[in-house]
Amino acid sequence: MKQLTNEAARAALDAACGILHGNLAEFTDKFQSSNSEHNFYPPSDNVEWTTGFCTGEYWLAWEHTRDDAFKTAALRQVDSFLDRIERKIDVDHHDMGFLYTPSCVAAYKLTGSETARRAALLAADQLCSRFREKGQFIQAWGPNNAADNYRLIIDCLLNLPLLYWASEVTGDPHYRDIAVAHTRTSVQNLVRPDHSTYHTFFFDPETGAPLRGATRQGYRDGSAWARGQAWGVYGMALSYRYTGDEACIRLFRQVTDYFLEHLPADGVPYWDLEFTSGDEPRDSSASAIAACGMLEMAPHLPAEEAARYTAEARRLAAALVDTCAVTDPAVSNGLLLHGVYARCSPYNPIPRDRGVDECNTWGDYFYMELLTRLTSDWHPYW
Ligand code: GLY
Repeated sequence: MKQLTNEAARAALDAACGILHGNLAEFTDKFQSSNSEHNFYPPSDNVEWTTGFCTGEYWLAWEHTRDDAFKTAALRQVDSFLDRIERKIDVDHHDMGFLYTPSCVAAYKLTGSETARRAALLAADQLCSRFREKGQFIQAWGPNNAADNYRLIIDCLLNLPLLYWASEVTGDPHYRDIAVAHTRTSVQNLVRPDHSTYHTFFFDPETGAPLRGATRQGYRDGSAWARGQAWGVYGMALSYRYTGDEACIRLFRQVTDYFLEHLPADGVPYWDLEFTSGDEPRDSSASAIAACGMLEMAPHLPAEEAARYTAEARRLAAALVDTCAVTDPAVSNGLLLHGVYARCSPYNPIPRDRGVDECNTWGDYFYMELLTRLTSDWHPYW
């Protein structure tokens, strides 16, 4: 099975940085929308949960090229993130980590920017405000304590590094305590006996007792939404790095092997792991996320196992480069084709189709992170 070599990864990263450079004029004061339309991102204000990925791509590009045009653009966007959190624009949800880690935590780690530090700490406070004592989890969506939204979602595992970082820089354990509690609740409830994962899990608002798993973006409640499973892979790896909890290694192995065992022959997952063949759309972003998680976990595993997961990550990366990577800016102003934001299904008609067979900003970001991990001794933003 083909694996991506370091040389090919470097070439792909060079190509990605070239496309990003061409985007700087359009996407500095404006951001890319969450997903492309006919493979081209329309501009967006700093709203929704995804704008941090644009800034994160610029930081990765700056680390790779040392071209200060990327740094200048990223720092302008950091100013926008401070304004956003100070004025509380579209921040009534849990995705503070997706927004503020690749943008502002990255900026602080790379440049020491005090603006970035302030913005990211305000975002961490906002995330903590959604912690529910009854049930011990961070509520993903909806008004605080709303019974119809009294649930956590698997994606939130990627929001937790913002809290660990906040404890590190402030010395205040409160942020970390919330992250650890949320992780514990997640691992106890999200992984099914067959090692597939629930996208979301509801709790009783009165007692905090676990109630039931449900999907919002997957094919059906009992299936494994591909991106959710991938958030589980990367989330377990990050949780292990921060907590050292052996349960995270065990769950990493389980959810990762499930993901790998449900890939189609060409190595690019369908949008839900229910499908392993046929015409359903793929979600390339899920593959990039999962591969990053495997590379994150590898140094913590015994040598033979580390080699196996690294080889799998290189295999996923080769499939992405060969079948999804944009090589011509006339085709797309994104980096990674063939993602899915949301898709309705006969069992889950609630999400309208959005960004189906399109680029999405998180797919582009994690594709770049994957190439960066393969070509350098990268210090994670997460
Ligand atoms: N975190 C939202 C998504 O993956 O679509």
